[in-house]
Amino acid sequence: MNKNQVIVGSLWGDEGKGKIVDLLSSQADVIVRYQGGANAGHTLVVQGKKIILHLVPSGILHKEKICLIGNGVVLDPETFCEELEGLKKANIPVGPDRLKISYKTHLIMPYHKLLDKLREEKKSGKEKIGTTGRGIGPAYEDKVARVGIRAGDCLDFDHLKKKLENALKEKNVLFKNYFDSEPMSAEEVFEKIAPYLETIKPYLADISSEIENAIRGGKKILFEGAQGTHLDIDHGTYPFVTSSNTVASNVCAGAGCGIKVIDEIIGVVKSYTTRVGSGPFPTELTDEIGDHIQQKGSEFGATTGRKRRCGWLDLVLLRESVRLNSITKFALTKLDVLSGLQELKVCTAYRYNSETIYYPPQHENGLSLVEPIYETLPGWTADISKVKTFSDLPKEAKDYINFIEDQLNVPVGIISVGPERSQTIFK
Ligand code: IMP
Repeated sequence: MNKNQVIVGSLWGDEGKGKIVDLLSSQADVIVRYQGGANAGHTLVVQGKKIILHLVPSGILHKEKICLIGNGVVLDPETFCEELEGLKKANIPVGPDRLKISYKTHLIMPYHKLLDKLREEKKSGKEKIGTTGRGIGPAYEDKVARVGIRAGDCLDFDHLKKKLENALKEKNVLFKNYFDSEPMSAEEVFEKIAPYLETIKPYLADISSEIENAIRGGKKILFEGAQGTHLDIDHGTYPFVTSSNTVASNVCAGAGCGIKVIDEIIGVVKSYTTRVGSGPFPTELTDEIGDHIQQKGSEFGATTGRKRRCGWLDLVLLRESVRLNSITKFALTKLDVLSGLQELKVCTAYRYNSETIYYPPQHENGLSLVEPIYETLPGWTADISKVKTFSDLPKEAKDYINFIEDQLNVPVGIISVGPERSQTIFK
């Protein structure tokens, strides 16, 4: 049976989804992005070459696949065009026959990026969200405020100019009077974006019907999530979250299909936890073990280059991720990074208000008040980066995986032991 799969990040993003999407794309026919924007950064290593994609679905590297960008994405026209150029240079075909953008996809405008930047600059210390500065929040705000610019607006530039004027009215008051910054004119914005919009035009498509036709034709679909469950605008560590719903159920709204389309939900989880940007992180390690993991795992954000904060695996957050997404299978990444650590701690519960709890507190900032309760498991020293089967892993590594499965009641079906496609164990 052709199972349609969703891939979601189980924690705060950067779980290594790019590699898993790339791998599973080889068995799919159509790959769809349904939320987020150029705040995502999927790092892929193919034949030793590193490729970072922010917007174009990672499946594009498989030349015979169709890649779709759904209405739930906020697309930066400039970044999109840069990615097209980069892919063309790498001899990857990126014609409109295999890459399509929904008419309804909202576009990120220069004023969204400026607003994102000015807001972050204005916030002091602990208030800063630590956004990627890609204009994501302001673009989603405009969508909800019904003043957004959509990809389909490329078809009527007169209409688009009027929409720009309308969208800029309130923003210019903010720019001038609150941020002490230069206002923007609709004409200047239009001049800047017009060449990119010309490039985008041929890529416009009815993504909902593309998906429907693919399903009717017996094709297999892979929905590629960006960011992670605990960055979800509703269910994440609000306000330190991104501005879209990152949970699997947003596939339907963000791509234009019904719930019954989804068969399998794969939660990608790193063998330890990382986070970029601000916000609570109960199992964060601020000692030399955290530094060791950060360096050994090359934990730098793919989009901003920021150092990622590192910590132990947190099964309490993951338990909630299973609940929020109905995860049917885990893909565990970067297991090789843990090699050489004498012992591994895994957070199985929290101490909160003198009680032991197994799911995170639900009120805002509750996560900053918990104390992790750990189980300690023995580590392993062997280099596992060339191991091909589960049975060939050191006993301690197998125990670590079995422990996760037992605690969360979800199988770990894929184990990644290095960045290359070949460094993957299917269990
Ligand atoms: P924004 O999505 O740029 O508004 O950033 C909001 C928060 O989400 C910040 O903490 C970012 O660091 C985080 N974030 C956004 N996209 C990603 C991602 O792809 N990986 C990890 N963190 C992300």
